[in-house]
Amino acid sequence: MFEDRIQSAELRQKIVSAEEAASLVKDGMVVGMSGFTRAGDAKLVPHAMAKRAKKHPFKITLLTGASLGYDTDKLLCEAGVLSRRMPFQVDTTLRAAINRGEVMFIDEHLSETVEQLRAHQLPPVNIAIIEAAIIHEDGSIVPTTSVGNSASFALGADQVIIELNTSVNPAIEGIHDIYIPSPRPNRKPVEVLEPDTRIGTTSIKVDKNKIAAIVISDVQDSPSLILPADDATNAIARHLTEFFLKEVDQGRMDMTLSPIQAGIGTIANAVLTGFVDSPFHNLRMYSEVLQDSTFELFDAGKLDFASASSITLSDKCAARVFPNIEHYKDRLILRPQEISNLPEIIRRLGIIAINTALEFDIYGNVNSTHVGGTHMMNGIGGSGDFARNAYISVFVTKSVAKGGKISSVVPMVAHVDHTEHDVDVLVTELGYADLRGLAPRERAPLIIEKCAHPDYRDVLRDYFDRACKTVGGQTPHILDEAFGLHRKLKTTGSML
Ligand code: COA
Repeated sequence: MFEDRIQSAELRQKIVSAEEAASLVKDGMVVGMSGFTRAGDAKLVPHAMAKRAKKHPFKITLLTGASLGYDTDKLLCEAGVLSRRMPFQVDTTLRAAINRGEVMFIDEHLSETVEQLRAHQLPPVNIAIIEAAIIHEDGSIVPTTSVGNSASFALGADQVIIELNTSVNPAIEGIHDIYIPSPRPNRKPVEVLEPDTRIGTTSIKVDKNKIAAIVISDVQDSPSLILPADDATNAIARHLTEFFLKEVDQGRMDMTLSPIQAGIGTIANAVLTGFVDSPFHNLRMYSEVLQDSTFELFDAGKLDFASASSITLSDKCAARVFPNIEHYKDRLILRPQEISNLPEIIRRLGIIAINTALEFDIYGNVNSTHVGGTHMMNGIGGSGDFARNAYISVFVTKSVAKGGKISSVVPMVAHVDHTEHDVDVLVTELGYADLRGLAPRERAPLIIEKCAHPDYRDVLRDYFDRACKTVGGQTPHILDEAFGLHRKLKTTGSML
């Protein structure tokens, strides 16, 4: 019943159709939408925008928390609505348009977007379109399954459109912790001292007068796209467990480990699920997205607390978790992404960051975003926020992609997202390479031996040996050959 969820009679007068709300968005506007990893995104208004644009073309700059679901990026892209898009996406159609140069995509650390907005380094948001579970008498918004950048978009925008989603369990209220850091350069410390520290409010305190329209929706979040664990991801999880057991053995951690961040996607999710069978206990997460694995760890009694910016689940897991959110609620916090990903907190809490690479090189530089060095996959997301500031920064990947035609270990990555300085441990299904305290010339043989697929080890060893002998330097490279495997893939369709 939406009447119970809009507690102000005055605001109930603002209920309109999605089409009417969409008509408020004008050509050239900057639009800030809720949505982070397909969770908590506005759904009906963006679809109505796409429909309108087919008859009456217009273009916008679209800012979100991270990726959207419900085919929103696809439909907006096909309707020609997107001129600029930031800071993250995972949609195939949009990805292709970005790679054709038709949509300008700004790929940036997820903690930074609203800092740049507040500092006027980006054009201001004209309209915010935010999904809500409840709207209070004073106009404050209780978000749904993500917080992302919604609070700063709503507070900074001239107008706010709210999509009130009646399919979201109202018991979700209380899960969020909305906090906006004070202005720089005299900012106070952001005092999240443990993953379960609360520092803010449970709703977004938006000025009631800015709420221009309310649209009623009952469309559920799109399910996550992750695939089940396989032999390779299970092996990666086993190697990581072995690595952490060694850390415990050497007295650097106890069996509760440090708070964990795990990146998006199939591999990171499967690796975390692998911890269900590990000897670790009383784990805590300080992450940006909670996938199925978080709830598997909760249900296995392995996880004490999880803080993030969104919850993105498969259909099956969502059907188990959301109707029973009360059961998990006191063990969960959803925060703005600038807080879930804040370098200050990540460094203070001593986070173990586990993110996924597309490829890494023999010296430990990681490419997470650009296929072949040129074509955008998804974006850097929060991986850089965490990797740079983590206590231990781990990157995982399978040793080969596309049936073995692509080696994930290459002489030189064709695009660098995470430099060798931000990477502590590399893991593939074949083993792990602990790079801490090693110079580039020590890293290369270890990475090749532990992580590269046997089909590629000889060619990588040969490259490294010749680079040392013929060129030398701190980080030996034969520049004419450094992208030899990538060139071979382009010309023959395989690195083999
Ligand atoms: N070259 C070309 N393609 C590659 C590749 C390489 N070196 N390595 C992997 N791929 C392809 C895979 O074949 C797969 O293709 P498909 O979708 O056609 O099957 C695709 O990339 C995804 O790889 P997959 O192995 O399924 O991993 P994933 O789902 O775990 O995603 C990333 C991996 C890197 C794309 C994903 O983690 C990502 O976007 N990371 C950047 C953002 C991030 O780390 N955020 C973390 C904080 S939330």
